[in-house]
Amino acid sequence: MENAVPVHAGIIMDGNGRWAQRRGLVRTQGHLEGLKAAKRITKAASDLGIRYLTLYAFSTENWKRTSEEVGFIMGLIRQYLKSEFDFSRRNRIRVRYAGDFEGLPTDIQKEITETIAQTADYNGMQVILAINYGGRDEIIRAFRRLTTARSCESQFTSLKENDITEFLDNPDVPDPDLIIRSAGEYRTSNFLLWEGAYSELYVSQKLWPDWDKEDLEAAIADFSGRQRRFGGVLEGKNG
Ligand code: FPP
Repeated sequence: MENAVPVHAGIIMDGNGRWAQRRGLVRTQGHLEGLKAAKRITKAASDLGIRYLTLYAFSTENWKRTSEEVGFIMGLIRQYLKSEFDFSRRNRIRVRYAGDFEGLPTDIQKEITETIAQTADYNGMQVILAINYGGRDEIIRAFRRLTTARSCESQFTSLKENDITEFLDNPDVPDPDLIIRSAGEYRTSNFLLWEGAYSELYVSQKLWPDWDKEDLEAAIADFSGRQRRFGGVLEGKNG
């Protein structure tokens, strides 16, 4: 076995709309079931010993959807932040955030700030909620922070990877070992572009609302058999 459980897993929770459409339901019903799946998988990930879990809940591109759908997802996020505190406390889960915070509705900003503060001392799994998140946007924001922090132009001629990493949304969080995508699409959709450079990808055909602990276990089992070379070669092998 090459790897055991990933330290950090990211999930692109896709297929809520299709799940609903296949049942003749409105798309929002799929998001409602998607939220339930997110709760199931958070619990499963914590039980399985994952240390960091990043959930892609809303991308910088998702604003293009109808105002009804956007409003519904924001409502779910609101509900999630309000109702999950007991669960976080029981499981010692620390909640964190990634994304363009300023672009969120102010009441959600407030809920996120409170949840982060309330769970800051918990030492269990860390859940990073990627809401209004885009990988390119995160890199741009990192650059802006970098230029504010270091005014000297000469800094840029000797720019190193670490200079950017330091200004990402959660610089202390290790890069994801595994990125999971539900619903069968083979793309990363602007998720953790910088951090995911060497992540193992796992695509499942199953739509997100149908996800259960067994699906996460299957993803981990698949991951545990991968040989990670990070661009190098394995010792004693030619490639
Ligand atoms: C992708 O499915 C899903 C989303 C854009 C929203 C995901 C949001 C939640 C599950 C609720 C919030 C969760 C948390 C943890 C706060 P899609 O609509 O693109 O599905 P489709 O590709 O089948 O249309």
